[in-house]
Amino acid sequence: MQLGIIGGGVIARLVLEEHRRGTVDGVDVTGILGRNERSRGRTLAAEFGVPFVTARDALLALRPDVVLEAASHDAVRDHVALLLESGISVIVLSAGALCDDALRTQLEQLAAQHRAKLYVPSGGVGGLDALKAACTAGVESVEVRIAKPPAAWRGIAFVEALDIDLARLDQETTLFAGTVREGVPHFPENVNIAAVLAMAGIGFDSTRLLVVADPGLACSTNTIRIRGASGTIEIRLQNFPAPGHHNTSLLACHSALAAIRAVHAPTRYGT
Ligand SMILES: NC(=O)c1ccc[n+]([C@@H]2O[C@H](COP(=O)([O-])OP(=O)(O)OC[C@H]3O[C@@H](n4cnc5c(N)ncnc54)[C@H](OP(=O)(O)O)[C@@H]3O)[C@@H](O)[C@H]2O)c1
Repeated sequence: MQLGIIGGGVIARLVLEEHRRGTVDGVDVTGILGRNERSRGRTLAAEFGVPFVTARDALLALRPDVVLEAASHDAVRDHVALLLESGISVIVLSAGALCDDALRTQLEQLAAQHRAKLYVPSGGVGGLDALKAACTAGVESVEVRIAKPPAAWRGIAFVEALDIDLARLDQETTLFAGTVREGVPHFPENVNIAAVLAMAGIGFDSTRLLVVADPGLACSTNTIRIRGASGTIEIRLQNFPAPGHHNTSLLACHSALAAIRAVHAPTRYGT
């Protein structure tokens, strides 16, 4: 399988490192698409000896079968439709972009028309198998609580407007409570997991999101609570950060890798 990558950040690096270690059988990396010549993708591509391109046509010319989007919401908006139209499957990590119903519907239709897969992996969350099964039985409520050490919420306009001194916080503080639909635009880089959970379950308007700053935490802690006809489910994930990055979890990086391994696999274990 020929794999293209959009983005040259933390997730792209881990995928390339694992690929170099030989842990991703049957996959060749055809190249990296970055947004411009100053992108981190250029250095990464040089380090791993793969082509670096800044135009989508140039990525298409490298003839990938599958593209891993590990870049940004903009990258999903700019590139995914044309890749699917070209029959190329896309693994989307910046899942919050799909909160836009028109974009998501367009991508779902293109995937079906062109027999390409639109694949949104679990990322930094888990329990989607149980969520899907619970939904078929019928659920009353799905909630995801994303709690991080206060410093992880710095530099976000929505949080700055709350006028909370994150450096002096001495107790857990809710920064946002509402639907995933309302929350994603406020935290485009930080709550992708809530979007994944909404799409796998009962949707953006019915899934509840809590965003919490907690000075008692050492790492990001995501709690999912599901209530429904099949019972109650509570799942807590304590995610260690990827090396050198306080926002992206190691679990999310490895989820991208697991998706690359799974995208064309003939067998599947778990829902
Ligand atoms: N689903 C999940 O659970 C989950 C978990 C973690 C992260 N994510 C998301 O996954 C994405 C990648 O995460 P990361 O930690 O690897 O990010 P990162 O370290 O910040 O790297 C992002 C890379 O993407 C590039 N980029 C941004 N917009 C682009 C565009 N329009 N076209 C081409 N390249 C573009 C950046 O370019 P420059 O080098 O020029 O800046 C950078 O190289 C982010 O959107 C993040 O929010 C999802």
